[in-house]
Amino acid sequence: MKKLLFGALALGLMFSCNNDNMSSQNEMDPATTPSVTAELNRNCFSEEIRQEDLQKSPELRQRFTELEANTEMFSKNTQLGKVLTDGTVEIPVVVNILYSNDAENLSDARIAEQIDVLNADYSGTNTDVSKIPTEFQSVKAGDVKIKFRLANTVRKATTTTSWVRDTMKKSSSGGIDATSPSNYLNIWIVGKVVSTDGRTILGYATFPESAGLWNDGVVIPAPYFGKTGAVTNFNLGRTATHEVGHYLNLRHIWGDAKCGDDLVADTPTQTSENYNTPSYPLYNRCSGKNRSVMFMNYMDYVNDAAMFMFSAGQKTRMQAVVASTGARSGLRVY
Ligand code: ARG
Ligand code: ZN
Ligand code: CA
Repeated sequence: MKKLLFGALALGLMFSCNNDNMSSQNEMDPATTPSVTAELNRNCFSEEIRQEDLQKSPELRQRFTELEANTEMFSKNTQLGKVLTDGTVEIPVVVNILYSNDAENLSDARIAEQIDVLNADYSGTNTDVSKIPTEFQSVKAGDVKIKFRLANTVRKATTTTSWVRDTMKKSSSGGIDATSPSNYLNIWIVGKVVSTDGRTILGYATFPESAGLWNDGVVIPAPYFGKTGAVTNFNLGRTATHEVGHYLNLRHIWGDAKCGDDLVADTPTQTSENYNTPSYPLYNRCSGKNRSVMFMNYMDYVNDAAMFMFSAGQKTRMQAVVASTGARSGLRVY
């Protein structure tokens, strides 16, 4: 059963990176070509490395299976009105900065700005929340009841300008060791991240099956972190909102496959990821059914200004993880 589950996951993720094969099925609006963002090649790095890690480690596979079983139980209980949340959780954050020049050594103000964005986006108090289309009002998350508080900033000068996966997380490879990853959300800021095949990465995160491991946390290159001075189209701090979503067990809204499943019932199935700023409404056809898709969700790939909501189902998945029974129950400010 467990093997089967993992097999299905691995298969799903295999398809997830075949974006080339995904002929766009946005039948009523063809304006979603990944032109501008193609150079950034942001596709599925978090899921990609998740699959690699899961394949390598039976222990991680075991944790993954338990995580999903636990999440399903939490969702069922929530639907039955048994539990909802254990109230608001506040996650202490450690920001680890590896800088090779002054521009990369982000200011305290820039870090504060990013924490503020996380708090606004996760409480549904972001100023653009008013842009949520009427048809999605009934399924918006509102307050996710997860807050963030900066606990510490660790800075280290380096000569490394471009980092490969996870090397920034170990002092033995020139990085900064995580601060107690069971108890803190560690975020590493670096100049640049490249995948083994040379793609530039906007950010990546570990999922909750990695809770407390040495590499647990989020990586975001300096140009995509915070607002003031960040790079155009990604300067509203939403790369962190998206990556922290993965960290709290959210998958991409298109389920990393053509018409895939993100394990969230209230996010409409969509053919694939969206880029830039799509115009609403945007219809996708999956299993013979046309749906208006929720491309304005933080777990799509649109520009920062074009994403402004989580759904209620996504909130439940995240709450399952930070609940006292969840994989990330250790993340609390006491
Ligand atoms: N591509 C990255 C990932 O898959 C993050 C995308 C964030 N999008 C944004 N508009 N900031 O994890
Ligand atoms: Zn992602
Ligand atoms: Ca869905």
